[in-house]
Amino acid sequence: MSNYHIKHLEEYYGVYRKSIQKPEVFWEEVAEEHFLWRKRWDKVLSWDFNKPEIKWFEGAKLNITENCIDRHLTVRGDKTAILFEPNSPDEPAQHITYKELHERVNRFANVLKQEGIQKGDRVCIYLPMIPELAISVLACARIGAVHSVVFAGFSSTALSTRINDCEAKMVLTSDGSYRGAKTIDLKGIVDEALEDCSCVDTVLVAKRIQSDIQMKDGRDKWLQPLLDVASDQCEAEIMDAEDPLFILYTSGSTGMPKGMLHTTGGYMVYTAYTFKNVFQYDENDVYWCTADIGWITGHSYIVYGPLANGATTVMFEGVPSYPDMGRFWEIVEKHKVNQFYTAPTAIRALAKENLDFVEKYDLSSLKVLGSVGEPINEEAWHWYNDNVGKKKSPIVDTWWQTETGGIMISPIPFATPTKPTYATLPLPGINPSLMDENGIEIKGNQVDGRLCIKAPWPSIARSIWGNHQRYKDTYFSAYDNMYFTGDGALRDEVGYYRITGRVDDVIIVSGHNLGTAPIEDAVNEHQAVAESAIVGFPHDIKGNALYGYVILKETGETRNQDNLRKEINQIITEHIGPIAKLDKIQFTSGLPKTRSGKIMRRILRKIAGKDTSNLGDTSTLLNPEVVQEIIDNAL
Ligand code: WTA
Repeated sequence: MSNYHIKHLEEYYGVYRKSIQKPEVFWEEVAEEHFLWRKRWDKVLSWDFNKPEIKWFEGAKLNITENCIDRHLTVRGDKTAILFEPNSPDEPAQHITYKELHERVNRFANVLKQEGIQKGDRVCIYLPMIPELAISVLACARIGAVHSVVFAGFSSTALSTRINDCEAKMVLTSDGSYRGAKTIDLKGIVDEALEDCSCVDTVLVAKRIQSDIQMKDGRDKWLQPLLDVASDQCEAEIMDAEDPLFILYTSGSTGMPKGMLHTTGGYMVYTAYTFKNVFQYDENDVYWCTADIGWITGHSYIVYGPLANGATTVMFEGVPSYPDMGRFWEIVEKHKVNQFYTAPTAIRALAKENLDFVEKYDLSSLKVLGSVGEPINEEAWHWYNDNVGKKKSPIVDTWWQTETGGIMISPIPFATPTKPTYATLPLPGINPSLMDENGIEIKGNQVDGRLCIKAPWPSIARSIWGNHQRYKDTYFSAYDNMYFTGDGALRDEVGYYRITGRVDDVIIVSGHNLGTAPIEDAVNEHQAVAESAIVGFPHDIKGNALYGYVILKETGETRNQDNLRKEINQIITEHIGPIAKLDKIQFTSGLPKTRSGKIMRRILRKIAGKDTSNLGDTSTLLNPEVVQEIIDNAL
């Protein structure tokens, strides 16, 4: 029986059972058969969720880029590794072969070294979706530098917070980026961010939009001239399996974003294994994930997972709406895409448009459709299934997290029968459980609870950068000896899982995780604001949108409320980014609070969602009278 590539449901059950009963034997076989190690491990797994400490393939030595690039050179050197599709359909696509990728990563790695980057140093990457982004990620990994990619839609404040937290020595950026018909001044944002970052010595700038930008003497350098003279050979740094590979920030419900730390060996094994099985990738397939490499989906399933399997992975610079709402389908036809992986928010936006945008194109190459980032609602699932997959391409609704590194619960296409809105079954090695609020495991089927995982899998994040205690508190303290995901889920009569959403104060807007506390902090910065509370409410395209309740300092505030709303959203844009803007802002004289002073968000959520039929018991509130006022003025 092949452990690596599952093709039938019975095979899945067999492999799954083995992976849970004997995880070490199972993962050792996968690791042995399919990867290039410079030295074998001494121990497959050691773990303690109480410390917490997790180690996979301890003692093993490797470089992930040798697995993603070098070992493919003899068998598929001329195969396209990265297929770059630019923002404008008029600009030709670029086919970067494995050989070219090897040369370009090596050159980039040599430039990093020459500019003083050493093993273990952190490099912040703030680049648009251009080849340099994927190449720089791999170049860091080549020399053992730790990359911290920051999504190039984040504001300068969000960027400087992330740079300072991991004390990055270098920032990689570009003169600007294209986003549909617009251009964005990325370098300007970096300049602003760096006013608050003393740790950064060097900024390397790629040219993309040919704009006229300021270069700071002694700090900023154009990338291309350095690459032009660098050698295209660079010995890979031999890393320990547990050496850090990257940091990626994700929002928590409170406080600073969490710098999730991923390490090398386990992450490689798990992302490669799940890529192969969840997408059923065959040698000549063209695979396309529409995410940005600034998110975990891009790290694991544009760069590392696909390249470790020698795949052709499409990298798209643009947006689904440019030049029109048919762009995704035009690209599928043009590159004969076989696997297509996107987010429910994009599907919902496209489903609102005229079907001609889809039907105009030949989508017959598609074999597998994927969804990630938030629950996919039934309507969107059917639209995707009927109009894109023509009912012949299974939809893999993949549930996972920045923290998990790879896909955890998902159908295996052609093996697991799909069911709308269900992520279905745990992948091999994943042992989920549903817990009640008192810490008791809920057994059996047709139940719901809080989703936990009972044992480690190879790509689980090992820590939060600089704050191991927070890692323990967030993920390992809610339930004894379990990883707590922060999500709620139900299990149906056959054991399929459906993820119902976050059970904490993280709200997923258009697939982006947003903690409410940092947004409230930003709102409270406005000089007219006394206090605020932010909740999510259902939105037919974004999944959730943000609703802010704001108390002003002066009750007789005479300023135009619409102007105040604009100013508040401007502050949010500056502090976090436009993705965190509030759709609705209601000014109120008070917020419902418990006697201990805690805001009753449950009530605010219901009012925002226009569901005031059953607000539950409000008599225990300190100020029950405010509830009626809020209902009367709800937007
Ligand atoms: C949510 C994205 C339902 C979930 C890979 C999780 C999902 C959070 C799904 C992680 C799905 C992700 N169905 N919910 N298929 N996939 N989520 O860290 O709430 O950006 O905890 O990782 O997204 O988001 P993150």
